[in-house]
Amino acid sequence: MPNRFPERVARPRRYLMCPPTYFTVEYAINPWMDPEQPTDTGLAVRQWERLRALYEQLGHTVELIDPVPGLPDMVYTANGATVLGGQVLVATFRHRERAAESDAHQAWFQAGGYREVRRAAYVNEGEGDHLLVGRRLLAGSGFRTEPAAHAEVRELFGVQVLSLTLVDPRFYHLDTAMAVLDDDQIMYYPEAFTPDSQALLRSLYPDAVLADREDAEVFGLNAVSDGRRVLLPEAAKSLAGRLSDAGFEPIPVDLSELFKGGGGPKCCTLELRPV
Ligand code: ARG
Repeated sequence: MPNRFPERVARPRRYLMCPPTYFTVEYAINPWMDPEQPTDTGLAVRQWERLRALYEQLGHTVELIDPVPGLPDMVYTANGATVLGGQVLVATFRHRERAAESDAHQAWFQAGGYREVRRAAYVNEGEGDHLLVGRRLLAGSGFRTEPAAHAEVRELFGVQVLSLTLVDPRFYHLDTAMAVLDDDQIMYYPEAFTPDSQALLRSLYPDAVLADREDAEVFGLNAVSDGRRVLLPEAAKSLAGRLSDAGFEPIPVDLSELFKGGGGPKCCTLELRPV
């Protein structure tokens, strides 16, 4: 019987993570955050440790940046920078509560021997709004990253940049509404985008895996794929089924504490592409 899918090939990755040592929800900069709701930092650390261990078991390399007291959102390293070919664009955050994370990331990359480390002139929140699919960068805006930042990222990295506009405040970063599965496949929640962006996505990725509202609301799209294995929140049950149907291997993870800050596995994971 012929194979229904191309063979899915995992590629080892290098990720930057930050332990949630100082994680709590003490301000609200997205609709998921409620400072009245108690958080359990110890549980957040244990859930995060499991995610880190899982990456290593799957053959990936995890590098760590030290957490900084007073920066509870620093666990979401995906927002700190965009890294491609040894060049680093350090994020400039939308909200002052997170602004100091940029300095921490800049210092970390400068110490790490990267070819070029540049601080973004325009507001962009790293891989929160920048998703690389092969040689094409899908760039979100609407809530955090400024549209002008898209030209800056194009100029620095020399890749094709396609702008997508988000419309639902619950899906405020591109990585809450979309995930990259491999070099030419994505999954996404169409209703998080303007009609124009939906049309663009349909034409570019006609076979994309689509998520329904229930899966999007549990951050099912805040997923990390190595080309074959896809780590996603365990609550996203039907999306996991759709991934299996498309030949991927879903791996459920529980990050319920970090969900209270409005993040999931992808938010805690910045891909380092040193070369
Ligand atoms: N509390 C953080 C914020 O609102 C969560 C960031 C989640 N990160 C992500 N890549 N979506 O900025």
